[in-house]
Amino acid sequence: VIPYGRQTISDDDIHCVQEVLRSDWLTQGPAIELFEKAVANYCQAQHAVAISNATSALHIACQALDLGQNDYVWTSPNTFVASANCALYCGANIDFVDIDPCTYNMCPEALEKKLEWAKKNNKLPKIVIPVHFSGQPCNMQAIKALSKKYHFFIIEDASHAIGATYLNTKIGDCSYSDIAIFSFHPVKIITTGEGGMILTNHSDIYQKLLLLRSHGITRNPKYMMGESDGEWYYQQIDLGYNYRMTDIQAALGNSQLKKLDTFIERRRLLANRYNSALSKLPLLLPWQHPDGQSAWHLYVIQLLEPTRRKEIFNTLHQAGINVNVHYIPVHTQPFYQQLGFKIGDFPQAEQYYQRIISLPLYFSLQDDEQEYIIETLKKALQ
Ligand SMILES: Cc1ncc(COP(=O)(O)O)c(C=O)c1O
Repeated sequence: VIPYGRQTISDDDIHCVQEVLRSDWLTQGPAIELFEKAVANYCQAQHAVAISNATSALHIACQALDLGQNDYVWTSPNTFVASANCALYCGANIDFVDIDPCTYNMCPEALEKKLEWAKKNNKLPKIVIPVHFSGQPCNMQAIKALSKKYHFFIIEDASHAIGATYLNTKIGDCSYSDIAIFSFHPVKIITTGEGGMILTNHSDIYQKLLLLRSHGITRNPKYMMGESDGEWYYQQIDLGYNYRMTDIQAALGNSQLKKLDTFIERRRLLANRYNSALSKLPLLLPWQHPDGQSAWHLYVIQLLEPTRRKEIFNTLHQAGINVNVHYIPVHTQPFYQQLGFKIGDFPQAEQYYQRIISLPLYFSLQDDEQEYIIETLKKALQ
């Protein structure tokens, strides 16, 4: 069976993990800081915080920006539910901005329109979370310009996009945002099993993230109320969590990071091959905005005949090709419908959802496997 995505783990990764397993530190040890520094350096961001996963990253990113009751967060409906759930964890309200039918990312024009409406109705968002869907960067210049006019924070959900570039800067450098987050789940570009990273250029946000990741506890006398009692002393000064990454995971991440550019190069080559092999079929292929270079987490095709999606999906599965669908619009999930969202609220994301299939795309996908996928799809579409 060919999955839609999978990790690539080689002997050097295993060696790095074994080294940690034989060391004194399985967690809260030196591998964490090494990994954080390496990711910050790769992205050219000032601070990086390794974390248990991108879901917890989104949660404490919102909390670090003081998100609370009566506040609004806006994100894209074309994302995994975690991009929206983070607002609700903080007791805030969630809303969505429809996608651009070309990029499948949050549409800046729709965002601007909604901001104008929200200003009149006193419902402006405190945080906007653009999602770099499938690894393709959002129009961050436009979103940043709107954030200045309407005074909201930006958290980039870059779960799909480590290694992507936007206007010659690396996604994660936070030049257009307050915070960016990555996911290292096994289907993502690089993996730590479960895991994530939060990046920011703001020292105050960085300090808050460190606190929230680990119970709200500090050992730094600078942040304590009153005097420290001694070397053993710590204080809880906020309500935090245990969202730490282990050193075992960080060692794997560090080893994987060294191969990130090679991984993306191969993904790009495979995507280009899909582009040329599928160009004459009744499909819409992923359009790439010239301002960015995708990390190619996903390769999504749209069927011109949406009524055939289930049949084609099933035919591919029966042929051992485990294609997938990204994403069911978040606002159509039963939980979100209970909050008051309705089918029809974000028509671009809904229309897109009806037509899509994600084809297998990962570093170790073999040329003959890709050929088989292409041929099987061609036959299925006939
Ligand atoms: C866009 C997006 N955001 C957030 C997440 C959550 O990531 P994690 O599984 O690391 O918690 C995912 C995971 O699939 C995702 O695709």
